[in-house]
Amino acid sequence: MIPPSGSSLGSSAELSGSSSQAHVSPDGLVAGTHALFTFPNRVIFGNGARASLAAELNRLRITRPLIVTDAGLVASGLVAEVTASIKPAVLFQGVQGNPTEADVLTGLEQYNTNRCDGLIGLGGGSSVDAAKAIRLLVTHPGRLADYDYTQGGLDRITSNLPPLLAVPTTAGTGSEAGRGTLIQLPQTGRKTIALSPHLLPSTAICDPELTLELPAVMTAGTGMDALSHCVESFLATTFHPICDGIAVEGLRYVFKGLETAVREGTNLEARSAMMAGALLGGISFHKGLGVVHSLSHALGSEGRVHHGTLNAILLPHALRFNREVAEFRLSELSTRVGLGRGGDGAGHLITLIELVLARLPLPRRLGALDALRRDSIAEYARLAMLDHCHRTNPRPCTQTDMEILLERAW
Ligand SMILES: [Fe+2]
Repeated sequence: MIPPSGSSLGSSAELSGSSSQAHVSPDGLVAGTHALFTFPNRVIFGNGARASLAAELNRLRITRPLIVTDAGLVASGLVAEVTASIKPAVLFQGVQGNPTEADVLTGLEQYNTNRCDGLIGLGGGSSVDAAKAIRLLVTHPGRLADYDYTQGGLDRITSNLPPLLAVPTTAGTGSEAGRGTLIQLPQTGRKTIALSPHLLPSTAICDPELTLELPAVMTAGTGMDALSHCVESFLATTFHPICDGIAVEGLRYVFKGLETAVREGTNLEARSAMMAGALLGGISFHKGLGVVHSLSHALGSEGRVHHGTLNAILLPHALRFNREVAEFRLSELSTRVGLGRGGDGAGHLITLIELVLARLPLPRRLGALDALRRDSIAEYARLAMLDHCHRTNPRPCTQTDMEILLERAW
């Protein structure tokens, strides 16, 4: 593929598809923009993989790690179990869902006060993202807003970072394999992303057994985040053969495991499928996401609404919105995950996702979420327009489109 003039790998243009949507071929092969895929980091996957934590710390020459996690996970005993063999370590348990800059700065202070020399992000996406943000500020001056991806922050993030181990205890965000960290910032008033290949965790330890105790509602919400990553990244206007193949495989795993993992939390096969789907989803969206994530980032800036739950509500509406321009890709994805050839492939895929949603213990309307206000739709839409994800949505989005989508989902 001949790149368009003016774009370059590794620049902040890498995920921008908005200027080139006229060049996109129906199959996505001629996408007009670059997608950058930078891998591998070390990924240790399997039941009991947590036993490799001490050896990985040794390999990374971490002698005093800061464990970044949340209070609930500490109270459950899981943090103690996973980190029992690590001494000395410093525990920071102040991460909240949708973490804020204040959380990050508190963790940073603990890191510096205790002279830590590396980090372990242990928990859901919030803990791993907070660990990434602390890691960034250990060696990079200024505030997190200085590294806002939408303001050219990519070019200001260097490889001079302390090592980071990511140990997910949910199967959803894929942050263990992602380059970004999303933090709610006072300067921007929204969830703001810092993104760089350098922010990839040094090692990801994916142990499905760590998700066995996850409640059904969280399993469903985080699982729908993984599903959204696979679908949105496959439909993104950028084309990358590695990411696209990974998105398909990730979606196959999610379809295989999601309902069973929700219904039967101790089913290790289903938990393994979901951890695989989440990991692959996190890799696939190196090429970009779409309007679902712009809207859920905007809505997640309000209160403590769960990211994956928002995605679950928004996804069917976004797919119908995108279908007008993404019929071929939706049909292709449908075929590749085994929904058969010919006929109404796009419709079959959307219907299957809606059938799965109907069987999950999740709200189906934004209006069911107390933290959200319908009279703020215009403001949510404004924040969504500022988010980077919709730049690679197959159908360009305006403020009015965002408002209409929110109304339909309310
Ligand atoms: Fe997500």
